[in-house]
Amino acid sequence: MQHTAKIMIDGKTFELPIITGSEGEKAIDISRLRQEIGLVTYDPGFASTANCQSSITFLDGERGILRYRGIPVEQLAEHSRFVETAYLLINGELPTQKELTRFSVLLNDHSLVHEDMRAFFEHFPRSAHPMGILSSMVNALRAFYPEIPERTEEEEINITVTRLLSKVRTMAAMSYKIFRGHKVIYPREDLPYAANFLNMMFDSPVRRYVIDKDLVKALNVFWILHADHEQNCSTAAVRLVGSAKVNLYAAISAGICALWGPLHGGANQAVVEMLGQIHENGGDWAPFIARAKDKNDPFRLMGFGHRVYKTYDPRARIMKKACDKVLGKLTRHDPMLDIARRLEEVALKDPYFIDHHLYPNIDFYSGVLLRAIGIPLNMFTVMFAIGRLPGWISQWKESIEDPNWKIQRPRQIYIGPNERDYVPIEERG
Ligand code: SDX
Repeated sequence: MQHTAKIMIDGKTFELPIITGSEGEKAIDISRLRQEIGLVTYDPGFASTANCQSSITFLDGERGILRYRGIPVEQLAEHSRFVETAYLLINGELPTQKELTRFSVLLNDHSLVHEDMRAFFEHFPRSAHPMGILSSMVNALRAFYPEIPERTEEEEINITVTRLLSKVRTMAAMSYKIFRGHKVIYPREDLPYAANFLNMMFDSPVRRYVIDKDLVKALNVFWILHADHEQNCSTAAVRLVGSAKVNLYAAISAGICALWGPLHGGANQAVVEMLGQIHENGGDWAPFIARAKDKNDPFRLMGFGHRVYKTYDPRARIMKKACDKVLGKLTRHDPMLDIARRLEEVALKDPYFIDHHLYPNIDFYSGVLLRAIGIPLNMFTVMFAIGRLPGWISQWKESIEDPNWKIQRPRQIYIGPNERDYVPIEERG
């Protein structure tokens, strides 16, 4: 039996179909609303609007649930590696050993970056933010790796996917080395994905980088936790730009630009900058809590709050444990972790944060973990982007494979001037 929603307008009743998801979520299908009733709906932040039906990621903001293709993120963080989780998101199922080996070999084969791309990196100003460089370089990949007409569309997509997953990691490490004026370290065929990245970042001709398995595990957990998050701002950007049938590199470049924002992926860098300011302020967090609560102050407590989670972000819980583990293993003490813990404790007891359902989100502890691994502050959001790549790719693939695919073109409510005549310049005020 199909459920319907009834709306009454000007004395007329209209019925709209209700669709139900596999987890019981319900939506009113308004896709024919304007055609049948002549009205549009209005939802500027899309807080009550679904832009698609998706089988990739399920999250429940009230219960703090996050699953990739049905598997709880807690289980993937504990048992999986980032490459395996990327395979799961993109292909829908966990790989067999044979499939995983073949995927890893492909990632290795595509891990080098065209030598001519180095000239691009070398001509960016030293002050350029790595996210701006990354979005430009990803878009430039199409120029260096043009489509091969002889390939089928599926072959073209598969090779583009592995190029992105492998080369974005290499490009991130390369840009770091170039801007430090150090020798670029090439990927090694004997190292798995995360260890290869750390080696490309920190190995040097005068000091061999020693792979620490706990740091490799922490980096895999970090990237697994970031791998997808249903229709967040950057994923919605990838779907919207991708709906115009641009190539995948261009759609991903748009996602990187959206993620750069401090309200989105840029928050991990902003959190550590905020914790640093509190540290410089003698550890006194009170002024920051007061500013966050002041309606006349645009300051937000970075790393807190979420459009969907109205309880603790399950990823923040796992990230916090990973911080404890890595810092404990390194027998290192980071004052930022103490300040973060204290800030969380105070905020979670404060009526303002309780009433607004503001809890730590993924970005609150992620920066502390990246500091422990040795990642420089201005590369924190690049690390988020590398993690989110399989999510963006899987969401883009799902949208172009959707039989109901359409170019995304929202409507609006016009509130500008009514019709008026052109006034010759000599008659203007
Ligand atoms: C990510 O969407 C995703 O899934 C994103 C993400 C992913 O994996 O892709 O999870 C990653 O982007 C996490 C969020 C990282 N951003 C930050 O940590 C920045 C700080 N947080 C906020 O700016 C805010 O909470 C947002 C942007 C995350 C969510 O904003 P919303 O849902 O649009 O909520 P809002 O801005 O309308 O705020 C609602 C109320 C307001 O107060 P009132 O005017 O109703 O009284 O809550 C207040 C806000 O002032 N509020 C905060 C706050 N966040 C919301 N007040 C103080 N500090 C904050 N952090």
